[in-house]
Amino acid sequence: MCGIIGYIGSKNATPIVLEGLKKLEYRGYDSAGIASIDKDKMSILKCKGRIRELSNLVKKEHLTGSVGLGHTRWATHGEPSERNAHPHVSCSGKVAVVHNGIIENYASLRTLLEDEGHKFSSDTDTEIFAHLVEKFYHGNLLKAVHEALALVEGAYAFAVMCEDEPDKIVAARFGSPLVIGIGKKGEYLIASDPIAIVAHTRQVIYLADNEVVMLQTSGYRVTDRDNVEVEKEVENITWSLDKISKDGFSHYMLKEIFEQPQTIYDAMRGRLSKEKNDIRLGGLESHLKWLNKGEKKTTGLDALIKAKRIVIIACGTSWHAGLIGEYMFENVLHIPVEVEYASEARYRNFIVDKDTTVIAISQSGETADTLAAIKEAKTRGAITLGFVNTVGSSIARETHAGVYLHAGSEIGVASTKTFTSQVCILALITLLIGKKKRIIDDKRVNTITEALFNIPQQVEKILKKTNDIREIAKRYMDFNNFLYLGRGYNFPIALEGALKLKEISYIHAEGYPAAEMKHGPIALIDKNMPVVFIATDTEDQIYQKIISNIQEVKSREGQVIAIASEGNELIEKVSDAVITVPKTEDFLTPLLTVTPLQLFAYHMALLKGHDVDKPRNLAKSVTVE
Ligand code: G6P
Repeated sequence: MCGIIGYIGSKNATPIVLEGLKKLEYRGYDSAGIASIDKDKMSILKCKGRIRELSNLVKKEHLTGSVGLGHTRWATHGEPSERNAHPHVSCSGKVAVVHNGIIENYASLRTLLEDEGHKFSSDTDTEIFAHLVEKFYHGNLLKAVHEALALVEGAYAFAVMCEDEPDKIVAARFGSPLVIGIGKKGEYLIASDPIAIVAHTRQVIYLADNEVVMLQTSGYRVTDRDNVEVEKEVENITWSLDKISKDGFSHYMLKEIFEQPQTIYDAMRGRLSKEKNDIRLGGLESHLKWLNKGEKKTTGLDALIKAKRIVIIACGTSWHAGLIGEYMFENVLHIPVEVEYASEARYRNFIVDKDTTVIAISQSGETADTLAAIKEAKTRGAITLGFVNTVGSSIARETHAGVYLHAGSEIGVASTKTFTSQVCILALITLLIGKKKRIIDDKRVNTITEALFNIPQQVEKILKKTNDIREIAKRYMDFNNFLYLGRGYNFPIALEGALKLKEISYIHAEGYPAAEMKHGPIALIDKNMPVVFIATDTEDQIYQKIISNIQEVKSREGQVIAIASEGNELIEKVSDAVITVPKTEDFLTPLLTVTPLQLFAYHMALLKGHDVDKPRNLAKSVTVE
């Protein structure tokens, strides 16, 4: 959360910083600000609200100067307001700071600084840093930043400017991403994400934790925390910025839901071959690597095949995909799997031994908890794999091997298309390991391959029901609570459906395993409680059991909305509303059942007049704990 950008060069910094901030808005959008230095004078503009408000402000004031910093905020300490928006300045107003992360010892530092006479003008943790730099500043900004950093605990990406050294930006990283862009003719940029700077340069340096960089038009210098110079590799960005547009859709989220036939196909493209009856995942090629514990182990697919146990680490929607992975790996491959919330795993003694392989699943590749849990797993000697959408992201770089989702940029804050891509990758891996271990014979591999290639057109068919789904949403839009129930592969879909409704419609919803209803939630059932059942036909007895659960709800006057298999007439009779999905292999049903629930949440949010793409209080990339 929070996006930062800085520019130093010969051009006017403001339009470059503003353009970059628009690309970073997915990281937070409650307030924004910009600082620039022109003729040795610092100017700062900030406001509550989105980057477009900041742009309007900039249009009125004429900000010039070829050194600038920008920030888009997701509030941690202090409400979203102009006063709490970054950049924050020191007492003299000469030092300006933008920050992504949390300074955990901010309270004690604030007391210390206030005792020394520093006056604070915001409620943020970030402002501490501006005052600390001021405290240590004796004509050397880099040195002052180093000394200030020595006192700070927590996670951060900082960028700092100082009126007395107007030809410099100093930036530092610990736990929050930061990338340096090397432009042409003495032009340098710094940002939370390369997408903010790729329009200006493809030459980048990824800062590592504890590194500090000083940018000047004459060059850059990276140092470690002890101010010792560090040699950094300059990397070339090979990916191109997706055309970020709504393509005629009213919202990014809707566009992304409708992109799924293509993105699911893209997750398989070049990896699954019908003709050759083959599956190849280039990123999972196995290599011998030295691990932290001094052992040598093979990474990639080998680490999955040999694993006695797999631990999947993720947050939010990606965690739900991980849960489906657990069901796939255990049911089909008989490998024990645990799915951990990254935020829990990182602080408990989660057992990772030499026979455990750890998978991180993440759309952004930047989620702070997932990244920290992966680092922790590595220190315990585990092979780590990343299933990530964002190329070059911290998790992609931190893990030993991995698979990219190839879903393209996801802009809507509520994840949709990347979820189905994650599930698709997990299905491919299940198939690949099943084939390699001879658990799945060739005939079955053929059948599953066929089923996977049918998924895009089956999703297409579901998308055509968007108007029917909207009508159902209309009928239920005044209800304040929903229960989502599913079993087996569709239990995680119940969780995901409920999460989508919460995220964008602000309606309370809970997901449960259908059979758990009788252990509590059934007490809530009455005519005011719609229950969404994911009740597709299954090869085992689960379907029959779900029908019994539906009856239990109906006999207590509950309203039933069912996601059912095409041609199932019984469900039509017992439900108040039905959305059907085509039939597929049991373990692939989540790829179909989630789509109507994404559309249901979308229409519900729209009907209620909410900002679907930027729901309140949320951010797309959660880079703080
Ligand atoms: C945030 C987003 C969710 C996402 C979660 C995990 O909460 O709003 O949509 O599922 O982070 O993000 P990741 O990028 O790691 O998948």
